[in-house]
Amino acid sequence: MVPADDLDRILAVMDAAFDPQFGEAWNRRQVEDALILGNCHYGLAEASGTCAGFYLSRFAYDEEELLLLGVIPSQRGCGYGAHLLEQFMDGARAHGALRVLLEMRQGNPAERLYQRYGFAQIGCRPNYYRGTNGQRIDALTFACLLDGRSQADRQST
Ligand SMILES: CC(C)(COP(=O)(O)OP(=O)(O)OC[C@H]1O[C@@H](n2cnc3c(N)ncnc32)[C@H](O)[C@@H]1OP(=O)(O)O)[C@@H](O)C(=O)NCCC(=O)NCCS
Repeated sequence: MVPADDLDRILAVMDAAFDPQFGEAWNRRQVEDALILGNCHYGLAEASGTCAGFYLSRFAYDEEELLLLGVIPSQRGCGYGAHLLEQFMDGARAHGALRVLLEMRQGNPAERLYQRYGFAQIGCRPNYYRGTNGQRIDALTFACLLDGRSQADRQST
């Protein structure tokens, strides 16, 4: 179960980080329900006493899926997104995952971050997202195979 303080931190980032036009943000109940399940995990990034970002993920069989990754706009470009992605990938390894997955709206600049960490596109769901203006946007699925090394090990070699 997620401590109420952490839930508040996640929801504060959620409100600030996700553009409402794409309807990607989850509400409190959705986050709480996910984290009641033993296979969902989260991580936070702290910046001078405040929460700059979070991730939420779900482990199943031998895979872990990144469900949400967000950093508040005022703290972007400082490496918190990369730090959270590393936390997620290291956590997935520790849970026994052989592969990590994520789904992203086509055109999201976060793609560059994911590619830097070895994610490659494996699928596309045409017109999966619907923007508030009615615009349909494809969902792209990315995957990355995990080896036994942590992200810190990978960067030192
Ligand atoms: C994606 C996100 C978490 C990245 O957070 P961040 O703290 O800015 O990430 P970093 O500082 O570690 O930057 C990582 C890289 O991704 C690129 N990048 C990530 N998001 C970007 C954005 N919105 N615009 C431009 N570049 C972006 C950066 O240029 C950087 O690449 P570089 O180091 O080669 O220049 C943040 O932009 C965000 O919260 N976006 C809105 C929510 C979202 O779309 N989440 C992803 C859903 S799949």
